[in-house]
Amino acid sequence: MTDNTVRQLNKDMPDLESYWMPFTGNRYFKQNPRMISRAKGMYCYSSDGQKLLDAVAGLWCCNAGHCHPKIVEAIKEQAEVLDYAMAFQLGHPTVFELANRLTDIAPEGIDYAFFVNSGSEAVDTALKMALAYHRIRGEGARTRLIGREKGYHGVGFGGISVGGLSPNRKMFGAMLPGVDHLPHTHNVEKNAYSRGLPAWGAHLADELENIVALHDPSTIAAVIVEPVAGSAGVILPPEGYLKRLRDICDKHGILLIFDEVICGFGRTGDSFGATRFGVTPDLMTLAKGLTSGAVPMGAVMASKDIYDTFMTGPEGAIEFFHGYTYSGHPLAAAAACAAMDVYLGEGLFDRARDMEDKFADALFSLRGEPHVIDVRCLGLIGAVELEGLEGQPTARAMSVFRECFDNGVIIRTTGDTLAFSPPLVISDSEIETMVESVRTALRAL
Ligand SMILES: Cc1ncc(COP(=O)(O)O)c(C=O)c1O
Repeated sequence: MTDNTVRQLNKDMPDLESYWMPFTGNRYFKQNPRMISRAKGMYCYSSDGQKLLDAVAGLWCCNAGHCHPKIVEAIKEQAEVLDYAMAFQLGHPTVFELANRLTDIAPEGIDYAFFVNSGSEAVDTALKMALAYHRIRGEGARTRLIGREKGYHGVGFGGISVGGLSPNRKMFGAMLPGVDHLPHTHNVEKNAYSRGLPAWGAHLADELENIVALHDPSTIAAVIVEPVAGSAGVILPPEGYLKRLRDICDKHGILLIFDEVICGFGRTGDSFGATRFGVTPDLMTLAKGLTSGAVPMGAVMASKDIYDTFMTGPEGAIEFFHGYTYSGHPLAAAAACAAMDVYLGEGLFDRARDMEDKFADALFSLRGEPHVIDVRCLGLIGAVELEGLEGQPTARAMSVFRECFDNGVIIRTTGDTLAFSPPLVISDSEIETMVESVRTALRAL
């Protein structure tokens, strides 16, 4: 315990010292705690009673809004009936139902779902599936994995190896061998203030041909990209880029993995990035919106070809030596089934698409405000990039975050970019509140 920690800020506040917080400046937080004690719909409430408009859906996850009554009810009901069932060799009905529900909304040909507990686990699982798939088919030399600069694929060793954000990698040694990276597609000079997908940059997919030529296709297992990169600051794929990646992968027998952890479940104004952009990968990783953030859960969805490839060998033998104690946990599966009911029953994916223009108009109205150098939007995902303070990267965006929070709006920052990903139930007036709070903060800098 350190002396400078605020131990007991007021009588309702627990001692803050022992909890080591993830991706957080622990010492700063413990001196300046911002605690959320409850949430409902579009709003969170701080421990000291402040009402906060949640413009990021938690961490891009509460797509149906917080504490949706149908999801809450489903979790309660499931908890009373079945808390846990052994995940290996036994099953329970809800998780099979969920797999069927997911295949209904997935792109055609993506027919199978494997469950995990987070986006990071989904990524590591998908990478292992890709490696094993080639090995089963007698192409065991295909061991290389190709990610992309600025990619974020969670924090497992697989995810940070194919990921392309240096702070997430540099402290952690050599990582997986045989990984290479495509160039990222972010270019403010060429693409600033593009409405929709940027026109410049599809040719960057052709870099995959150079990587293939360098290593030889027979050594490459898979390429993994986010359809829209979220954590690096909302980078939209250039028009035609994903299709080109698909074509090059097909040409060389390489699997294409879409990391849909952020893009899935309506964020892009469609079920998935794959469906929005009309490009079908071989594997898709999911999490976050899968349960609308209510219970941790992730998934890997796979093509029939991949599943069938594994379903060989002696009857009764395990086909894939992989899984987690909590794979397909009953509470998570119940929450996810209820989330699907809400998404489809309330038409939330279409709603996100219908709100897309209003959302973009509102964010684009920040063009010309102090320090703004770009605005990017698609569906209900948006970004406002700021010119960083000389010698103090991220500081300007963090000031905006703090100012907005104090004025009742939660936004997110990644580097010097402000990111927005509200629940899909956001209203016109809430979009206005979100943007005006940012405008006020920018003018006050
Ligand atoms: C694209 C992507 N992949 C993977 C992850 C990791 O998910 P988790 O934090 O659930 O492990 C994230 C998290 O933000 C993500 O954005």
